[in-house]
Amino acid sequence: MARIAYVNGRYVPQSQAAVHIEDRGNQFADGVYEVMKVVDGRPSDGDRHLARLARSLASLRIEAPMSEAALQQIVMETVRRNRLRDATVYIQISRGSAPRDHAFPKASVPTVIVTAKRMKRPDPKAYAEGVGVVVQPDIRWLKCEVKSVSLLPNVLARQAAREAGAYEAFLTRDGDVVTECSASNCYIVDAEGVLRTHPLSPLILGGVTRSVVLELAAAEGIPVDERPFTLAELEDAREAILTSTSSWVMPVVRVGDQVIGDGTPGPVTRRLQAAYHRHVFGNRGPAVATVADAMPVV
Ligand code: PDD
Repeated sequence: MARIAYVNGRYVPQSQAAVHIEDRGNQFADGVYEVMKVVDGRPSDGDRHLARLARSLASLRIEAPMSEAALQQIVMETVRRNRLRDATVYIQISRGSAPRDHAFPKASVPTVIVTAKRMKRPDPKAYAEGVGVVVQPDIRWLKCEVKSVSLLPNVLARQAAREAGAYEAFLTRDGDVVTECSASNCYIVDAEGVLRTHPLSPLILGGVTRSVVLELAAAEGIPVDERPFTLAELEDAREAILTSTSSWVMPVVRVGDQVIGDGTPGPVTRRLQAAYHRHVFGNRGPAVATVADAMPVV
């Protein structure tokens, strides 16, 4: 079945979907995006994703092209037309198309794109055993809280990880402060057993998974401190984790050649995986350590 995309008011086969060649998303990366899950036919943390999208648009002074309710309806219609129940949905809104000029056009209509594909679960082996990461300098701009389609530094960092055979790149500013990863947020469980992650600031994207995981940690009685950690603290950590909409709660067991903790996913990671699994999937499968294995294949 041909995949169907929503583009500016129309549902079209993805192979025929197109935007104007002078779209500002294309020429200036002048746009924002979201990636969200739809689980069992319902948006997972949809409100948080759409609220972040609204903040990203406002930050770039792109007028919201429609209400959140209307956009949510388009998301669900795109999922339906692709005959999916569990989906990963991509939403992109650019400032629109206009003759090329850096300053905002006087009148432009935002370009809205929504695509949906079958939700892929994280690799079960990686999810059960943990992954290795590399460290890369964080060379991004100072508005990382905006989910902008301007992702070249993230692309380069992720490519460096790929070439090193690693899952992700932890990014550092000022030499040794870990901010986040190329496309996920990161955490340690420090020597005192405290779950640490960089505070919300223009230096990181406030992940929806991050916000959920921090609430789940608090509910689990896990001490949380939104305080940056350094590379040295990462290497000495008991546990390390990264989170995102598509990686869920992924254990990190190696940074470069350095093994974290005992080299296996630790107890805090396991509890957060189970809690996140319950949060997203409810009673679909047991909330156990083998979370990814327990997930129905979708
Ligand atoms: N990435 N930090 C960055 C830089 C990200 O790009 C992402 C998400 C996150 C985690 O955010 P969330 O928990 O809301 O997914 C953190 C998405 C999934 C992507 O670009 O594909």
